[in-house]
Amino acid sequence: PAYTLYQAPLPIPEVIQPDFSITTKDGRTVQSYSITIEQFTKQIYPDLGAATMVGYNGQAPGPMFRIDRGVETVVRVLNKGPRNAAVHLHGSYNHAPWDGWANDDMAPNQWKDYYYPNLESGRSIWYHDHTDEITAVNAYFGQAGTYIIHDPAEDALALPAGDYDVPLALSDKTYDANGDLVSPAGNTFNFFGDTIHVNGQPWPYMNVEPRKYRFRLYDMSLSRAYDLRIQNPAGNSVPFKVIASDSGLFGSPVSTSNLVMSMGERYEIVVDFANFKGKKLTMLNGFTAAATTSFANTDKVMQFVVGNTVSDTSNNGAVPGTLNPNVDWPAPRTTVDHTFSFQLGGGGAQWTINGVPFSDANNRVLAKPPQGAVELWELRHAGGPAVHPVHIHLVNLQVVSRTGGRGSVLPYESAGLKDTVLLEPGETVRVLAFYGPWDGLFMFHCHNLIHEDNAMMAAFNVTLLEE
Ligand code: C2O
Ligand code: CU
Repeated sequence: PAYTLYQAPLPIPEVIQPDFSITTKDGRTVQSYSITIEQFTKQIYPDLGAATMVGYNGQAPGPMFRIDRGVETVVRVLNKGPRNAAVHLHGSYNHAPWDGWANDDMAPNQWKDYYYPNLESGRSIWYHDHTDEITAVNAYFGQAGTYIIHDPAEDALALPAGDYDVPLALSDKTYDANGDLVSPAGNTFNFFGDTIHVNGQPWPYMNVEPRKYRFRLYDMSLSRAYDLRIQNPAGNSVPFKVIASDSGLFGSPVSTSNLVMSMGERYEIVVDFANFKGKKLTMLNGFTAAATTSFANTDKVMQFVVGNTVSDTSNNGAVPGTLNPNVDWPAPRTTVDHTFSFQLGGGGAQWTINGVPFSDANNRVLAKPPQGAVELWELRHAGGPAVHPVHIHLVNLQVVSRTGGRGSVLPYESAGLKDTVLLEPGETVRVLAFYGPWDGLFMFHCHNLIHEDNAMMAAFNVTLLEE
């Protein structure tokens, strides 16, 4: 059913509070949180029935974590939902037992404590379901949320903060004539919704002040990538600064007027509305690469309604030319350690990596990087029109090269470290990463969740060196 654009305000996810916090004898702070996976209803269409969802603490997206770097967290997840569940904190160097391994899932009424060290640099990460073969369904019905690690050392940069620091989590869904969600279950190629949501609300508007904002963009869609731009009333694209990606702040900001972002990726941007008092700007989506299904309004994302007054002028200065002088680049290496083809078919599965489906438990460990090694992996798009955002757990990636397809690495892809990189048809991308600090078995996969559920996932084992 048609949905009136820009009819409701942008929801801001509620910040979850710890149940309790302890200080250990050696001075560490550990916070304890609880999350319940549960079914609930949410009114999306004002004139139709409510939609049934299954999310974290009755919210979709789930509550937002805002954690100071170095504060350790224990999150107790109780599964009161109808299906099995596993939680992955995407973008954190979790230890393997708490990484949300796809077969380490909770049946209904089971619970698990997840422990996260949160010691890496400040970054916008997210938590979402990772259960074998039902990740797409679980994430789509609501099991995904934002998790922000805030590094107090960043405060000196005076970037927009507080109400001016806003997550924008994009997803696409489809509703039936009763206002309920159409399930993506059973799709094996892609799932494209006809309704674009930001923070769970279709095509919202946001009242903004004529000043700078920091937006933390997330692509939480199953199969839809975006090419985002912000259009002013004259029809021109407004330039903005990209300041961070998956693994935190860039060395220096990158100016652009459009941003390609695929499933699983995050980018942080600073947009200045100072010149647009009393105007309405629109965030648009121009991503139309092969195998993307577009609908009437999937080229639109949200609207910014710019007011006339600034209530708080702090943190509104120029974006510093140096953001993070200490990006933790991996040591250079030119030898390719592994080549992985993201391809159709093999072993009866529709999608595979090097012909091996994740269901082939005897063969799915495709790499054994020694703990602490830097490895160069070559990721190849091996045919078909679908795009594959490749996500490697545990590590922070440097996107080194891209050949075929677009032919080059975009400036904002190489200005910082990432954990997910887009592979378009015809492309080969090389990524360099430090495999550590922990040993253990971790997944890597396509973040088109339909592909992931249909076996385009494998594992690597960071292997302890023998004495
Ligand atoms: Cu965002 Cu393995 O996932
Ligand atoms: Cu894919």
